[in-house]
Amino acid sequence: EPHEDSWRPQVHFSPPEGFMNDPNGLFVDAQGTYHLYYQYNPTGILAGNQHWGHATSKDLFHWFDQPIAIYPPDAESQVFSGSVVIDVKNTSSFFPDQSDGVVAIYTLNTPGAQVQEIAYSRDGGYTFTPFEGNPVIDGQSTQFRDPKVVWHAETQRWIMVVAYAQEFIVAIYTSPDLKTWTHASDYSHHGLLGLQYECPNLVRVPVRDAVGAPQTEYDMYVLTLSINPGAPLGGSTTQYFPGNFDGTQFTPVDGATRLADFAKDNYAAQFFYGTPEGEDALSLGWASNWQYTEATPTAREGWRGVMTLPRRSFLTRNSREGWVLVSLPVELSPVLCPGPIRVTREHLGGDMRFEADLRAVKSGAYHFEIVLPTFSRTATEARLTFELSSSASGESVSGGWLFALGGDCHFYLDRGRTHGFDHPLFTDGFSTSVVAPGEGDYTWTLSAVFDRSILEVFVNGGAASATMTVFPEGRLTMLAVRTAGIPEDVLVNVVVHGLKSVWE
Ligand code: FRU
Repeated sequence: EPHEDSWRPQVHFSPPEGFMNDPNGLFVDAQGTYHLYYQYNPTGILAGNQHWGHATSKDLFHWFDQPIAIYPPDAESQVFSGSVVIDVKNTSSFFPDQSDGVVAIYTLNTPGAQVQEIAYSRDGGYTFTPFEGNPVIDGQSTQFRDPKVVWHAETQRWIMVVAYAQEFIVAIYTSPDLKTWTHASDYSHHGLLGLQYECPNLVRVPVRDAVGAPQTEYDMYVLTLSINPGAPLGGSTTQYFPGNFDGTQFTPVDGATRLADFAKDNYAAQFFYGTPEGEDALSLGWASNWQYTEATPTAREGWRGVMTLPRRSFLTRNSREGWVLVSLPVELSPVLCPGPIRVTREHLGGDMRFEADLRAVKSGAYHFEIVLPTFSRTATEARLTFELSSSASGESVSGGWLFALGGDCHFYLDRGRTHGFDHPLFTDGFSTSVVAPGEGDYTWTLSAVFDRSILEVFVNGGAASATMTVFPEGRLTMLAVRTAGIPEDVLVNVVVHGLKSVWE
C-alpha cells in the first residue's frame, strides 16, 4: 500500500514500478475479465525497452498485476503499441481446440524498421507465442505503427487501422485470418497533423440522445487518432472523427476535427475489444503528455504513468457542433464509499459558498458532482467554481463555469497553484467553450474525480471532458464550491463522496 503522502492514484491504474505509457491490447474475455496491457519499461523510469505489461480486473478499478505478457525478441527491438482480439472462429488456425484464443497484433520496433507482428495466446491472454511467419505487414517504413484490429461481422473479416506516422496516413487493411493482410484504403491528411499520427482506433459506437437514450437503430463509427508532437496545447493530444465504415473505407460525417479532451493529459486512448454490441464503447487513455512525461516527479517514488478512469462513450448530436463523442466514467460504485460526505441542495442566495472537509477520507481520492439548472442571466458575469485546497501547503486546484452575458460559457481548470512539478511545458490552465443550454430541462452538470495526482472532469453530461495531472506537495483536503451572479431562486446541488482505495 502506498505511503499516505504518495502521488500514487488510489482508484486509477498505475504500474508497479518503472515507466508506463500507452494502453495496449484492451479486451474483455467471455468470463468478464478485463485485460489491460501497456507500454512498459520495467527496468527504467524513462520510455525505452518497451514490453507489454499486463494487469487484469473484474470491475475496471481493482487491477491485479500479471507477469509481463510480451517481451522484445532481442536487445535491439522493442514491442510497441498494438491491440488484441479474441479469435472465436479460429480464423487464424492457432486454436484448433478452443473458441477463446487470443491474438495480439503489435508493432515491432527495430533500428531499421517498424513492422506489424502477431502473437497468439492459448491461455486467455497471459502468455504469448510469436507467430513463426512474422512480420505480417512490412510497410517498408521506420515510422509505421500502432495496429488496432476489430472484427467486421458484415464482411466476416478483420479490419486493421495502423499509422504511417510521418506520412499522416491511417492505413486500413483487411484480413481473413490475422496473418495475411490486404491494403484496403488510406485515410490521410485529415484533422490536425501535428508531426506524427499515432494510435488510431476504429470503433463502433451507439448513437444516443443527450440524456443517453438510444436514438437510432444503427450504430456509427468513430475514428480516433492521436498526434504527437504538435498538439494545439503542445505535445500530445487525441482527435476523433465521427463517421461511417463500409468494410473498406472510413467516411467522416463532415470535415471537422474534434478533440477528445480539453486539457493536456489524455493520450493514445484505446477501446476495449469484446464489449457487447449496442452498448457504450469502453476505453482507457494514458494520462500524460510526451512533452513532460519523462520529467514528472513521481520518479522519486519509483514509477511513472497512470491510466485515465475507464470511460464509456457514445455519439450524440448537439445543435452547435453536430456530432459529439460523449465520454463519461463507468459506474464508480466499485470504489465509492457508502454514503455521501456532504450533499447540498441550496438556493444560491446571491453568493453561495459550500465547503466539504475531506480530511477523513483516507484515500485522498474524491468524487463530486454539481448540478445547476438552466437560469436566465441577468448579471454581466456569473460563475460557479470549485476549489480543492490544502490548508497546510496553501496549494489548490480549481475550475468551474464562467457564464458571460452574451450566452457564451467557458469551463476552465487551473493547476497553477501547486508546487510539486515545475516544468515550462506543464502549463497551468485549460478551458473549453461549452454549448449554451437549449430549451426545457437542460442542466449544467459536472462529474469530477480527484485522485491524489490526477483530476478528471466530465462536463454537461460528458459532452466535454478533461484529464489533468497535478502534483501538489500537500494533501488537498478541502473542497469549496462558490457561486456569483446566479439568480437567488436557482437551486444548486452538490454531492461529495469519498473514494475507496483499490490498494486496501
Ligand atoms: C504513442 C507511442 C506509439 C508507440 C509507443 C511506443 O505514445 O509513441 O506510437 O507505439 O508510444 O512506446
